[in-house]
Amino acid sequence: MYEKVTETILNVGVNDPDIVLFENQYDLPEGMAYNSYLILDDTVCLMDSVDADVTEEWFANLDAATGGRNVDIVVIQHMEPDHSGSLALLTEKYPDIKIYTSQMAVNMMKQFFDTDLSDRITVVKEGDTLSLGSHTLTFYAAPMIHWPEVIMTYESSEKVLFSADAFGKFGVREAEPDDWACEARRYFFNIVGKYGPQAQSVLKKLEGLELSHICSLHGPVLPQNESLEFYLNKYKTWAAYEPEDAGVAIIYASIHDQGTKQAALALAEMLEKKGVKIGVTNLTEDDIHEGVEDAFRYDRMILCASSYDADLFPPMTKFLNILKIKAYQKRKVAIVENGTWAPSAARVMKSYIEGFKDVTLVDPVVTIRSTLKEADKPKLEEIVAAMTD
Ligand code: FEO
Repeated sequence: MYEKVTETILNVGVNDPDIVLFENQYDLPEGMAYNSYLILDDTVCLMDSVDADVTEEWFANLDAATGGRNVDIVVIQHMEPDHSGSLALLTEKYPDIKIYTSQMAVNMMKQFFDTDLSDRITVVKEGDTLSLGSHTLTFYAAPMIHWPEVIMTYESSEKVLFSADAFGKFGVREAEPDDWACEARRYFFNIVGKYGPQAQSVLKKLEGLELSHICSLHGPVLPQNESLEFYLNKYKTWAAYEPEDAGVAIIYASIHDQGTKQAALALAEMLEKKGVKIGVTNLTEDDIHEGVEDAFRYDRMILCASSYDADLFPPMTKFLNILKIKAYQKRKVAIVENGTWAPSAARVMKSYIEGFKDVTLVDPVVTIRSTLKEADKPKLEEIVAAMTD
Protein backbone atom coordinates (compact mmCIF):
# COMPACT_ATOMS: atom_id res chain seq x y z
CA MET A 1 0.00 0.00 0.00
CA TYR A 2 1.11 3.54 -0.58
CA GLU A 3 -0.36 6.96 0.13
CA LYS A 4 -0.56 9.82 -2.36
CA VAL A 5 0.95 13.07 -1.12
CA THR A 6 0.39 14.62 -4.56
CA GLU A 7 -0.24 12.97 -7.95
CA THR A 8 3.50 12.37 -8.37
CA ILE A 9 4.80 12.12 -4.80
CA LEU A 10 3.83 8.93 -2.99
CA ASN A 11 4.54 7.76 0.53
CA VAL A 12 5.71 4.16 0.22
CA GLY A 13 6.64 3.95 3.91
CA VAL A 14 5.59 1.26 6.35
CA ASN A 15 3.58 1.26 9.57
CA ASP A 16 4.86 -1.12 12.24
CA PRO A 17 2.02 -1.50 14.76
CA ASP A 18 3.78 -4.27 16.70
CA ILE A 19 7.02 -2.59 17.77
CA VAL A 20 6.87 -1.68 21.47
CA LEU A 21 10.07 0.33 22.01
CA PHE A 22 11.74 2.89 19.75
CA GLU A 23 15.53 3.02 19.97
CA ASN A 24 15.13 0.33 22.62
CA GLN A 25 13.91 2.88 25.17
CA TYR A 26 10.86 4.92 24.11
CA ASP A 27 7.45 3.35 24.71
CA LEU A 28 5.38 2.91 21.58
CA PRO A 29 1.78 2.29 22.67
CA GLU A 30 0.69 2.75 19.07
CA GLY A 31 3.63 1.40 17.08
CA MET A 32 5.78 3.44 14.71
CA ALA A 33 5.77 4.64 11.12
CA TYR A 34 8.83 4.70 8.86
CA ASN A 35 8.10 6.92 5.91
CA SER A 36 9.83 6.85 2.55
CA TYR A 37 8.70 8.93 -0.40
CA LEU A 38 8.77 8.17 -4.10
CA ILE A 39 8.89 11.01 -6.65
CA LEU A 40 7.68 9.88 -10.08
CA ASP A 41 9.32 11.93 -12.83
CA ASP A 42 11.69 11.38 -15.78
CA THR A 43 14.12 10.34 -13.09
CA VAL A 44 12.41 8.23 -10.43
CA CYS A 45 13.65 9.28 -7.03
CA LEU A 46 13.20 7.75 -3.61
CA MET A 47 13.61 9.71 -0.38
CA ASP A 48 15.23 7.47 2.25
CA SER A 49 14.80 3.80 3.04
CA VAL A 50 13.19 2.17 6.10
CA ASP A 51 14.06 0.09 9.13
CA ALA A 52 15.39 -3.38 8.30
CA ASP A 53 12.45 -4.97 10.17
CA VAL A 54 10.01 -3.79 7.50
CA THR A 55 12.03 -4.10 4.26
CA GLU A 56 9.72 -6.68 2.72
CA GLU A 57 6.58 -4.59 3.13
CA TRP A 58 8.45 -1.52 1.89
CA PHE A 59 9.53 -3.34 -1.28
CA ALA A 60 5.92 -4.42 -1.88
CA ASN A 61 4.76 -0.80 -1.50
CA LEU A 62 7.52 0.31 -3.83
CA ASP A 63 6.55 -2.24 -6.48
CA ALA A 64 2.93 -1.12 -6.32
CA ALA A 65 3.86 2.57 -6.55
CA THR A 66 6.43 2.32 -9.35
CA GLY A 67 4.26 0.07 -11.49
CA GLY A 68 7.39 -1.74 -12.63
CA ARG A 69 9.53 1.35 -13.32
CA ASN A 70 13.12 1.38 -12.19
CA VAL A 71 14.13 3.58 -9.26
CA ASP A 72 17.06 5.72 -10.46
CA ILE A 73 18.03 7.65 -7.35
CA VAL A 74 17.73 7.40 -3.60
CA VAL A 75 18.35 10.46 -1.42
CA ILE A 76 19.60 9.45 2.02
CA GLN A 77 18.76 12.28 4.39
CA HIS A 78 19.55 10.48 7.64
CA MET A 79 21.73 7.46 8.36
CA GLU A 80 20.14 6.26 11.60
CA PRO A 81 19.20 2.59 11.06
CA ASP A 82 15.44 3.26 11.33
CA HIS A 83 15.86 4.92 7.90
CA SER A 84 19.03 3.53 6.35
CA GLY A 85 18.46 -0.05 7.51
CA SER A 86 17.19 -1.24 4.12
CA LEU A 87 19.62 0.73 1.95
CA ALA A 88 22.03 -2.09 1.15
CA LEU A 89 19.11 -4.34 0.13
CA LEU A 90 17.73 -1.51 -2.02
CA THR A 91 20.97 -1.45 -4.00
CA GLU A 92 20.50 -5.16 -4.65
CA LYS A 93 16.91 -4.62 -5.81
CA TYR A 94 17.95 -1.76 -8.12
CA PRO A 95 21.58 -2.52 -9.10
CA ASP A 96 22.01 0.79 -11.01
CA ILE A 97 20.54 3.02 -8.31
CA LYS A 98 22.54 6.17 -7.45
CA ILE A 99 22.76 7.56 -3.92
CA TYR A 100 22.64 11.30 -3.14
CA THR A 101 23.66 12.17 0.38
CA SER A 102 25.89 14.31 2.63
CA GLN A 103 29.64 13.73 3.02
CA MET A 104 29.19 12.77 6.64
CA ALA A 105 26.60 10.16 5.67
CA VAL A 106 29.09 8.63 3.23
CA ASN A 107 31.48 8.07 6.11
CA MET A 108 28.68 6.51 8.17
CA MET A 109 27.74 4.17 5.31
CA LYS A 110 31.24 2.70 5.49
CA GLN A 111 30.70 2.07 9.20
CA PHE A 112 27.22 0.56 8.87
CA PHE A 113 27.58 -1.56 5.72
CA ASP A 114 30.05 -4.17 4.55
CA THR A 115 28.99 -3.44 0.95
CA ASP A 116 31.07 -0.70 -0.65
CA LEU A 117 28.59 1.83 -2.00
CA SER A 118 31.09 4.55 -2.88
CA ASP A 119 31.00 4.23 -6.69
CA ARG A 120 27.28 5.05 -6.76
CA ILE A 121 27.36 8.05 -4.40
CA THR A 122 27.07 11.76 -5.21
CA VAL A 123 27.77 14.04 -2.27
CA VAL A 124 25.41 17.00 -1.91
CA LYS A 125 25.81 20.08 0.21
CA GLU A 126 23.77 23.08 1.29
CA GLY A 127 22.08 24.76 -1.67
CA ASP A 128 22.88 22.08 -4.28
CA THR A 129 20.02 21.31 -6.64
CA LEU A 130 19.02 18.23 -8.59
CA SER A 131 16.53 18.18 -11.46
CA LEU A 132 14.40 15.06 -11.86
CA GLY A 133 12.49 16.41 -14.88
CA SER A 134 9.61 18.56 -13.74
CA HIS A 135 10.63 18.30 -10.07
CA THR A 136 13.70 20.03 -8.66
CA LEU A 137 15.26 19.16 -5.34
CA THR A 138 17.28 21.61 -3.23
CA PHE A 139 19.28 20.27 -0.32
CA TYR A 140 19.66 21.90 3.10
CA ALA A 141 22.07 20.84 5.81
CA ALA A 142 20.17 20.09 9.04
CA PRO A 143 22.94 19.04 11.44
CA MET A 144 21.85 17.43 14.72
CA ILE A 145 18.21 17.04 13.68
CA HIS A 146 18.87 14.50 14.85
CA TRP A 147 22.36 13.32 13.83
CA PRO A 148 25.15 15.46 12.33
CA GLU A 149 24.87 14.14 8.75
CA VAL A 150 21.19 15.03 8.31
CA ILE A 151 19.95 16.92 5.27
CA MET A 152 16.48 18.14 4.45
CA THR A 153 15.22 18.44 0.89
CA TYR A 154 12.85 20.94 -0.70
CA GLU A 155 10.99 20.08 -3.90
CA SER A 156 10.13 23.42 -5.47
CA SER A 157 7.55 22.57 -8.17
CA GLU A 158 5.08 21.13 -5.64
CA LYS A 159 6.51 23.02 -2.62
CA VAL A 160 7.10 19.90 -0.59
CA LEU A 161 9.60 19.80 2.27
CA PHE A 162 11.14 16.44 3.08
CA SER A 163 12.08 17.15 6.69
CA ALA A 164 13.93 13.98 7.79
CA ASP A 165 13.12 13.29 11.49
CA ALA A 166 11.78 16.81 12.09
CA PHE A 167 8.00 17.08 12.54
CA GLY A 168 7.88 13.34 13.18
CA LYS A 169 5.99 11.62 15.96
CA PHE A 170 5.70 8.29 17.69
CA GLY A 171 2.87 6.02 16.54
CA VAL A 172 1.77 4.53 13.26
CA ARG A 173 0.68 6.87 10.51
CA GLU A 174 -3.03 7.55 10.77
CA ALA A 175 -5.26 9.05 8.13
CA GLU A 176 -6.60 11.68 10.55
CA PRO A 177 -4.49 11.99 13.71
CA ASP A 178 -6.54 13.90 16.27
CA ASP A 179 -3.58 15.07 18.34
CA TRP A 180 -0.29 15.28 16.46
CA ALA A 181 1.30 17.51 19.11
CA CYS A 182 1.06 15.00 21.95
CA GLU A 183 3.32 12.34 20.45
CA ALA A 184 5.33 14.82 18.34
CA ARG A 185 6.23 16.71 21.53
CA ARG A 186 7.32 13.54 23.35
CA TYR A 187 9.38 12.65 20.27
CA PHE A 188 10.96 16.11 19.95
CA PHE A 189 12.05 16.62 23.56
CA ASN A 190 13.31 13.11 24.11
CA ILE A 191 15.05 12.68 20.77
CA VAL A 192 15.98 16.08 19.37
CA GLY A 193 15.59 18.16 22.56
CA LYS A 194 19.27 18.62 23.24
CA TYR A 195 19.69 20.37 19.90
CA GLY A 196 17.28 23.29 20.25
CA PRO A 197 19.76 25.88 18.86
CA GLN A 198 20.42 23.73 15.79
CA ALA A 199 16.69 23.19 15.28
CA GLN A 200 16.16 26.96 15.54
CA SER A 201 18.75 27.68 12.85
CA VAL A 202 17.25 25.10 10.47
CA LEU A 203 13.78 26.58 11.01
CA LYS A 204 15.21 30.01 10.20
CA LYS A 205 16.75 28.71 6.97
CA LEU A 206 13.42 27.24 5.89
CA GLU A 207 11.45 30.39 6.75
CA GLY A 208 11.39 31.83 3.23
CA LEU A 209 10.16 28.64 1.58
CA GLU A 210 6.60 28.38 0.39
CA LEU A 211 5.30 25.03 1.67
CA SER A 212 2.36 22.88 0.62
CA HIS A 213 3.33 19.77 2.62
CA ILE A 214 5.88 18.64 5.17
CA CYS A 215 6.90 15.03 4.67
CA SER A 216 8.59 13.72 7.79
CA LEU A 217 10.21 10.31 8.10
CA HIS A 218 7.81 9.51 10.96
CA GLY A 219 4.11 10.19 11.46
CA PRO A 220 1.61 11.72 9.06
CA VAL A 221 2.23 13.93 6.06
CA LEU A 222 1.40 17.44 7.25
CA PRO A 223 -0.89 19.31 7.20
CA GLN A 224 -3.62 17.11 8.61
CA ASN A 225 -6.21 18.92 10.73
CA GLU A 226 -4.32 22.20 11.10
CA SER A 227 -2.50 24.67 8.86
CA LEU A 228 1.26 24.22 8.43
CA GLU A 229 1.70 27.34 10.53
CA PHE A 230 0.42 25.36 13.54
CA TYR A 231 3.19 22.76 13.21
CA LEU A 232 5.91 25.30 12.42
CA ASN A 233 4.94 27.40 15.46
CA LYS A 234 5.02 24.36 17.75
CA TYR A 235 8.53 23.58 16.53
CA LYS A 236 9.65 27.20 17.02
CA THR A 237 8.41 27.11 20.64
CA TRP A 238 9.97 23.73 21.39
CA ALA A 239 13.32 24.51 19.76
CA ALA A 240 13.59 27.75 21.78
CA TYR A 241 12.82 25.86 25.06
CA GLU A 242 9.88 28.23 25.59
CA PRO A 243 7.06 26.77 27.70
CA GLU A 244 4.14 25.79 25.54
CA ASP A 245 1.54 26.00 28.31
CA ALA A 246 1.19 27.71 31.67
CA GLY A 247 1.05 24.87 34.17
CA VAL A 248 2.95 22.68 36.58
CA ALA A 249 4.56 19.33 35.85
CA ILE A 250 4.48 17.29 39.07
CA ILE A 251 7.05 14.53 38.91
CA TYR A 252 7.37 12.08 41.77
CA ALA A 253 9.38 9.01 42.72
CA SER A 254 8.06 7.24 45.81
CA ILE A 255 9.56 4.01 47.17
CA HIS A 256 6.51 2.72 49.06
CA ASP A 257 3.73 4.89 47.58
CA GLN A 258 3.40 6.57 50.97
CA GLY A 259 4.74 9.98 52.07
CA THR A 260 6.32 11.12 48.79
CA LYS A 261 3.29 10.12 46.75
CA GLN A 262 0.94 11.68 49.32
CA ALA A 263 2.85 14.96 49.06
CA ALA A 264 2.77 14.91 45.25
CA LEU A 265 -0.97 14.22 45.15
CA ALA A 266 -1.68 16.84 47.83
CA LEU A 267 0.21 19.41 45.75
CA ALA A 268 -1.75 18.33 42.67
CA GLU A 269 -5.03 18.86 44.52
CA MET A 270 -3.98 22.26 45.85
CA LEU A 271 -2.92 23.45 42.40
CA GLU A 272 -6.07 22.13 40.76
CA LYS A 273 -8.20 23.97 43.33
CA LYS A 274 -6.47 27.14 42.17
CA GLY A 275 -7.33 26.29 38.57
CA VAL A 276 -3.73 25.57 37.58
CA LYS A 277 -3.19 23.13 34.71
CA ILE A 278 -1.09 20.17 35.89
CA GLY A 279 0.56 17.06 34.49
CA VAL A 280 1.42 14.33 37.01
CA THR A 281 4.04 11.64 36.38
CA ASN A 282 4.70 8.77 38.77
CA LEU A 283 8.22 7.75 37.80
CA THR A 284 7.86 4.24 39.19
CA GLU A 285 4.76 3.48 37.09
CA ASP A 286 4.38 5.90 34.21
CA ASP A 287 6.49 6.44 31.12
CA ILE A 288 9.46 8.55 32.25
CA HIS A 289 9.57 10.16 28.80
CA GLU A 290 6.02 11.51 29.28
CA GLY A 291 7.43 13.20 32.39
CA VAL A 292 10.26 14.71 30.31
CA GLU A 293 7.67 15.93 27.81
CA ASP A 294 5.63 17.58 30.58
CA ALA A 295 8.74 19.16 32.12
CA PHE A 296 9.36 21.00 28.85
CA ARG A 297 5.71 21.61 28.07
CA TYR A 298 4.92 23.57 31.24
CA ASP A 299 6.59 26.65 32.71
CA ARG A 300 6.87 25.20 36.23
CA MET A 301 7.79 21.87 37.78
CA ILE A 302 7.57 20.28 41.24
CA LEU A 303 9.81 17.34 42.07
CA CYS A 304 8.94 15.01 44.97
CA ALA A 305 11.35 12.20 45.79
CA SER A 306 12.43 9.80 48.47
CA SER A 307 15.94 9.70 49.89
CA TYR A 308 17.92 6.55 49.12
CA ASP A 309 21.33 5.39 50.41
CA ALA A 310 22.29 8.94 51.45
CA ASP A 311 21.42 9.98 47.89
CA LEU A 312 18.30 10.19 45.70
CA PHE A 313 15.79 7.46 44.78
CA PRO A 314 17.20 6.25 41.41
CA PRO A 315 14.08 6.78 39.25
CA MET A 316 14.34 10.52 40.05
CA THR A 317 18.10 10.49 39.39
CA LYS A 318 17.41 8.98 35.99
CA PHE A 319 14.74 11.60 35.26
CA LEU A 320 16.97 14.52 36.26
CA ASN A 321 19.82 13.10 34.26
CA ILE A 322 17.62 13.03 31.16
CA LEU A 323 16.65 16.67 31.78
CA LYS A 324 20.34 17.52 32.09
CA ILE A 325 21.19 15.77 28.82
CA LYS A 326 18.25 17.43 27.08
CA ALA A 327 19.25 20.94 28.23
CA TYR A 328 16.26 21.64 30.46
CA GLN A 329 16.11 25.40 31.10
CA LYS A 330 14.07 28.58 31.61
CA ARG A 331 11.68 27.21 34.22
CA LYS A 332 10.69 27.56 37.89
CA VAL A 333 11.17 24.44 40.04
CA ALA A 334 10.18 23.42 43.58
CA ILE A 335 11.27 20.34 45.49
CA VAL A 336 9.92 18.10 48.23
CA GLU A 337 12.05 15.39 49.77
CA ASN A 338 11.12 12.51 52.01
CA GLY A 339 13.45 10.81 54.46
CA THR A 340 12.79 8.51 57.40
CA TRP A 341 16.15 9.01 59.17
CA ALA A 342 18.60 11.21 57.21
CA PRO A 343 16.89 13.02 54.31
CA SER A 344 19.30 13.44 51.39
CA ALA A 345 17.08 13.70 48.31
CA ALA A 346 16.81 17.52 48.30
CA ARG A 347 20.58 17.98 48.31
CA VAL A 348 20.94 15.82 45.20
CA MET A 349 17.94 17.35 43.41
CA LYS A 350 19.31 20.83 44.16
CA SER A 351 22.66 19.95 42.66
CA TYR A 352 20.93 19.08 39.37
CA ILE A 353 18.79 22.20 39.45
CA GLU A 354 21.81 24.42 40.06
CA GLY A 355 23.31 23.03 36.84
CA PHE A 356 20.28 23.95 34.71
CA LYS A 357 20.38 27.23 32.80
CA ASP A 358 17.91 29.94 33.91
CA VAL A 359 16.08 27.68 36.35
CA THR A 360 14.88 29.22 39.61
CA LEU A 361 14.54 27.06 42.70
CA VAL A 362 11.44 28.12 44.61
CA ASP A 363 11.37 28.46 48.42
CA PRO A 364 10.68 26.61 50.60
CA VAL A 365 12.39 23.29 50.04
CA VAL A 366 10.12 20.96 52.00
CA THR A 367 11.20 17.90 53.96
CA ILE A 368 8.67 15.33 55.11
CA ARG A 369 9.36 12.41 57.39
CA SER A 370 8.03 9.00 56.24
CA THR A 371 4.40 10.05 55.76
CA LEU A 372 2.62 13.30 55.03
CA LYS A 373 1.18 14.88 58.21
CA GLU A 374 -1.41 17.62 58.54
CA ALA A 375 1.43 19.71 59.96
CA ASP A 376 3.32 19.41 56.64
CA LYS A 377 0.50 20.86 54.57
CA PRO A 378 1.12 24.56 55.30
CA LYS A 379 4.61 24.13 53.83
CA LEU A 380 3.14 22.57 50.69
CA GLU A 381 0.69 25.51 50.53
CA GLU A 382 3.73 27.80 50.63
CA ILE A 383 5.18 26.02 47.61
CA VAL A 384 1.86 26.37 45.81
CA ALA A 385 1.71 30.07 46.68
CA ALA A 386 5.28 30.61 45.47
CA MET A 387 4.53 28.76 42.25
CA THR A 388 1.36 30.71 41.54
CA ASP A 389 2.11 34.25 42.69
FE1 FEO B 1 14.11 8.51 12.76
FE2 FEO B 1 16.96 9.81 13.95
O1 FEO B 1 15.92 8.51 13.18
